[in-house]
Formats: sequence, structure tokens, C-alpha cells
Amino acid sequence: MFEIELKPEEFSLFRKYIYETVGISLSDQKSTLIKGRLNKRLNQLGMKSFRNYYDFLVQDTSGEELSFFVSAISTNVTSFFRESAQWTWLESYLPSLIASKREKKIRIWSAGCSSGEEPYTILMFLQHHLSDFDSWDIKILATDISHKVLSHAIKGHYEAKNVEPLPKEIVHRAFDKIRSENGISYQIAPHLREKVLFRKYNLVTDPFFFKNRFDMIFCRNVMIYFDDVTRHDLIGRFTTLLPKGAPLFLGSSESLTTHRETLKLLGSSIYQRV
Ligand SMILES: C[S@@+](CC[C@H](N)C(=O)[O-])C[C@H]1O[C@@H](n2cnc3c(N)ncnc32)[C@H](O)[C@@H]1O
Repeated sequence: MFEIELKPEEFSLFRKYIYETVGISLSDQKSTLIKGRLNKRLNQLGMKSFRNYYDFLVQDTSGEELSFFVSAISTNVTSFFRESAQWTWLESYLPSLIASKREKKIRIWSAGCSSGEEPYTILMFLQHHLSDFDSWDIKILATDISHKVLSHAIKGHYEAKNVEPLPKEIVHRAFDKIRSENGISYQIAPHLREKVLFRKYNLVTDPFFFKNRFDMIFCRNVMIYFDDVTRHDLIGRFTTLLPKGAPLFLGSSESLTTHRETLKLLGSSIYQRV
């Protein structure tokens, strides 16, 4: 592979563009990361400089290259039932949510859903805790900026090592077991898959088009790369989509220093709309 240098002025171009389009603020130290992670991509594309790649990135109106770039510089790490304390809290919250419903309808947004483990966990959780799950109209909106993770999520096909540690009853009800020459893997069952609407959506630049509010919003481990201004703005928009009492889930390492008048911390990075 041909080693391509990333000049400081090229890094500045990427930094400005990524901040404006994705909200990710890259520190000077990230120059080495970009060079390291994108050298292979430049070689694949037959490009000789990062300036060429920059032009290609900004001219790609499909957003495909941007989603590739974001995946290269950030993390898509996720897992089923991540942040266990939040699921325990949700167990105690669910009865009051159910009791407050006039219509048997639940709407939830998984913002920054990566490869789908988070929205599917929400459904597994609801299926496990609602005895009349099938009679509810449940829809999960699951969005991410990355095309690559979304296509994985849409397939809903997962390796045995990520599924088999889950309680057997949940695995049995939520997945179809697949046996092939490569061994065993698991496919999300169609009755759960059809309750998720996957969409490519950039939380920073795409318009907030939502007509209805959500019973809860998950935006966990997404804003870690955003600066304060971007985070503040996004949280403000989330609050407009949450009715009084509804929870907003963030990642366990994330906390809010703003919006104290509209969002109350309940613990475990769970905030409740006041
Ligand atoms: C670490 S994963 C978190 C997945 C899941 N929420 C969880 O906590 O397990 C972060 C995801 O946020 C997505 N992301 C980053 N910036 C984004 C943006 N501006 N708009 C939408 N999604 C974004 C990434 O593509 C990635 O899939």
C-alpha cells in the first residue's frame, strides 16, 4: 500500500467540513487517526493525495462517502441490552407508561442506532414485559448517519457470540436460528423486524421533520464526539419531541450540563422531560 501524507492544511479542510456536516469536532491529535484510517480508502480509490479525497467527499451528494468517513473516524460499537441499569429502570417505569395510554400505541426513537442492537433490544424488552405485546401498535424509528451500519441493522442478522449470552427465552422469541456451513447465527424474527423503521438521518444537519412526539428517545453514545454547541442544540430539539414525564436515554459516560429546566436527571444517564 502507498503511504499518503495528510498535510496540516488538508486536515483543516476535513476538520471544518466534518464539524459543519456531522457536528464532530476533531482535535489536532485526530490528524494521525484520519491519516491512518483513511490511507487504505485512498489507495482503493486510486487517489494520490488527501486533497483529492477531500474534493471527492464534499462532491458526493449521495452522502455515502460521508457515512464511510464517519464510520472510519468514530465508533459503531453497540450490543444488545447495553447499559443494564437503564433497562432495570425502564422495567419500573413501564407500568406507568402503559397506565397513561388511552390508545395502545407506543412510539420510540433510537437515534444513532448503529447496527440495530438498540432498537431490537427495545422490542425484546417490550415483548418480554408486556403480556399483551401483540395487541399493541408499536413502532421504533431507528436512524443513523452511516449507510453501512443501517444495512446491517435492516438485515437483522447477528453472530451467535453476540446473541447466545442473552436469556434463552428472549433468544427463542426474538430470533430465528440459522444453521449454515459457517456455523450458527441468528436472524431477528420478522414480527419484530417489521416494527422498526430504519432511516438514514444526520442528527446535526437534517431537518427535524417529525409530526408526532415520542414516548421515549434513546440517543446513547452518539454525542460523545459533538462539541457543546452541537450537543446543546440537539438536546433542545429532542425536548420538543418528548411529552411531560417521557425519558431521554443517553450513554453512561454522557451527562447534561444544560437544559436543567426541561430535563431532570433520574440516574444512570436517564433524563425525564419536566
Ligand atoms: C457508538 S454508536 C452507538 C450505538 C447505540 N446507540 C448504542 O449506544 O449502543 C454511535 C452511532 O452514532 C452514529 N452517528 C454519529 N454521528 C451521527 C450523526 N451526526 N447523525 C446520526 N448518527 C450519527 C454513528 O454512525 C454510530 O453508528
